[in-house]
Amino acid sequence: MKNNLIYLTGFMASGKSTIGPILANTVGWNFYDLDKVIEDETNKSVRSIFEEFGENYFRDIETKTLTRLSELQNHIISLGGGTVANNNNLEIIKSSGYLIYLESSPEETYKRLRFKRDRPAFLFDGDEEPTKSEFLEKINSLLDKRAKFYNQADFKINTDNCMVGKTVDKLAAIIQKEFYDKPDKR
Ligand code: S3P
Repeated sequence: MKNNLIYLTGFMASGKSTIGPILANTVGWNFYDLDKVIEDETNKSVRSIFEEFGENYFRDIETKTLTRLSELQNHIISLGGGTVANNNNLEIIKSSGYLIYLESSPEETYKRLRFKRDRPAFLFDGDEEPTKSEFLEKINSLLDKRAKFYNQADFKINTDNCMVGKTVDKLAAIIQKEFYDKPDKR
């Protein structure tokens, strides 16, 4: 049974954590950022969890936290870029709510990520600044691996040349249509 739950997925820097709270405020729902819940509960940054305990440890916490949040109602939940790349997580998401994919091109993702200092270690580690082509290669290879998961979303919106407000309007219209114009649809 699907709850009144909208999950936002997409690659790093696709706008999930920016758009999520504004969308929640617009439709009068509550908001959680999955990564932020994990950081608050572990009192560690996502990056330090990766560095200190490894990705598998992070993914285990991610699934446990997602399972808990999937029982909520009337929430927008921004996922991490890799959350849906796991069939168990995808099952939890699709059985409890609707999944929206915020798509962004590799070029746009590069522009948004290149100066980010807290990007996950597996993207690029150490002080060596990758070249643009090295960065784009990494983004493309990750996107290729994840496309089959992202594209299982119920809805997809490209955020490349779309102002945040415009994207929020499009998403609010989806919520209106799916949850209020068709209340019996679940
Ligand atoms: C990850 C993306 C991050 C965070 C973690 C793993 C990924 O979230 O969950 O670093 O595997 O793409 P954002 O997409 O919010 O950066």
